[in-house]
Amino acid sequence: MCGIVGYVGALPAVPILLDGLARLEYRGYDSAGLAVLGTDRIDVHKTVGRVRVLEELTPESPATLGIGHTRWATHGAPSDANAHPHLSADGRIAVVHNGIIDNSVALREWLQAEGVRLVSETDTEVIAHLIALAGGDTLEHSVLAALAQVEGTYGLAVIDTEQPDQIVVARNGSPLLLGVGEQEMHVASDAAALVRYTRQIVHLDDGELATVRADGFHTFTLDAQATRKTTVTVDWSLDEYERGAHEHFMIKEIHEQPEAVRGCLRGRLDTRFQTAHLGGLNIDAREAREVRRVKILGCGSAYYAGQFGAQLIEEVARIPADAEPASEFRYRNPVIERDTLYVAVSQSGETYDTLVAVQELKRKGARVIGLVNVVGSSIARECHGGIYLHAGPEVAVASTKALTTMMTAFSLLGLWLGRIRDLSAADGGRLVRGLQALPEQIATVLEGEEAIVDAAQWMAKAQNVFYVGRVRGYPVAREGAQKLKEISYLHAEAYQTSELKHGPLALISSDLPTVAVVPDDELLDRNLTALHEIAARSGPMLVVTHDGVDVDDLAQSVIRVPRSEAELDPLLFNIPLQLLAYHVAVVLGHDVDKPRNLAKSVTVE
Ligand code: AGP
Repeated sequence: MCGIVGYVGALPAVPILLDGLARLEYRGYDSAGLAVLGTDRIDVHKTVGRVRVLEELTPESPATLGIGHTRWATHGAPSDANAHPHLSADGRIAVVHNGIIDNSVALREWLQAEGVRLVSETDTEVIAHLIALAGGDTLEHSVLAALAQVEGTYGLAVIDTEQPDQIVVARNGSPLLLGVGEQEMHVASDAAALVRYTRQIVHLDDGELATVRADGFHTFTLDAQATRKTTVTVDWSLDEYERGAHEHFMIKEIHEQPEAVRGCLRGRLDTRFQTAHLGGLNIDAREAREVRRVKILGCGSAYYAGQFGAQLIEEVARIPADAEPASEFRYRNPVIERDTLYVAVSQSGETYDTLVAVQELKRKGARVIGLVNVVGSSIARECHGGIYLHAGPEVAVASTKALTTMMTAFSLLGLWLGRIRDLSAADGGRLVRGLQALPEQIATVLEGEEAIVDAAQWMAKAQNVFYVGRVRGYPVAREGAQKLKEISYLHAEAYQTSELKHGPLALISSDLPTVAVVPDDELLDRNLTALHEIAARSGPMLVVTHDGVDVDDLAQSVIRVPRSEAELDPLLFNIPLQLLAYHVAVVLGHDVDKPRNLAKSVTVE
């Protein structure tokens, strides 16, 4: 939520800031702004709307230092006044901020009592005034003094007309990276804004600040103790952040899935012992045998991937497993068990609810591993070990290739845990071969896109859509409904197929289409019975199934996917539902990559 950028160097700052903001726009896109340091004054340009609007209204400038922001509103509606950067009353200090200041109401009242006139409804503006009033002898001392009064989360970048060679940044709960260049330094919420300029990245930790100048930086804690940082090299290239010939990032990322799954599997399948090789877990076989339960935590689609993972781990490794939204888990007082393996799953590695759940687990002594896409992200760094997804950068708000690689990584984890326990070498080999075949099979599903384009035409006329799946198919149905909701804004709801007759069947009519996940597995007969019940009530259907399953007389559209191993089938059934959501959203003319009210990385509570 919200993207921040900063630049200090020898080049004009405005084009670099605008480029960085465009690359971070997926984090928030209701308003955008930037501030550059001119001679003795800060020039601010900001506007409600997208970065391209900001670009049109921002004049050229020789300034070589500045900060920028793309906003996802929390306090105060999207408006020019609420857009960042925010200035102190004397215009000396400018601030951009990602996060939420919990005590902003009290701070606003205090500032008003001191005679400060607040010009926005944001929580952020208070920080600019607090820094200006702090009276420190340097900007970093003023920022430290101001932050001592602030409660909440922040990724923060501050500039000051009286210290025109530097940007002071601070991090607490919202991601912040430094990019180290040749006689220039960059600041960003995400490497997406940095890779065009440098691959040398420094991750700040919570409670850490940095003073950044063209020739370098130094870091320190909230109590002014110096810290030492290591620079890491980012693998992802600029090309991977480009849309290329595709109309949207989402469809590009859907089509990248064969390669993403290959990347996730690379070097991790052990054909000699028919298991997985997962060195990053930092758990040995003896420790793994002591695991009595697996608890998976994630949010949104990552939670649905976790439901798939729990189902697979229980089936393959015979360890009781379940998934829970991290956003719920962290607010109750869960029993933490010594012999439970906790698994946090997240594309961005920055989802605040998941991060806090991990921190709470660690505080209570639990062992937590992470299934994370972004290397070096907060969740990845908090976990004891894990499996990087290697999906490549995912830009579209609606997660596709990351979700599929989460499912792949859970399959690897289940295989490894299973082979340490009672999964036979023969069954291990069966799953290894199933995983090896997945990239080609996904490519085959993608070749059938035309049929889904056709189905999207009639589906887009609906107001509501039902998704049904049973056992292995249920997480697929939930994720399918989630995808449709996010980008088409149609109401979509997923049910276990088995639950239909216990209530929701009452809703079935010719106006309510159902998307049914029907693998040719041991539950096929039960699923077919449910389809007959829907057809008997004139419910239109799109059925995703295997060859040889006779549903053509029941359904308006039938999409067939290749057969995998039954445990892995959900990975393939998931792909047509992504394409369906995408094409419905296109038919409806929505902004697929930036759906209303959402942001890619949910770094606030
Ligand atoms: C997915 O399409 C959604 N945009 C959303 O549910 C997402 O999966 C969720 O916010 C978790 O994000 P994460 O994987 O980065 O933690």
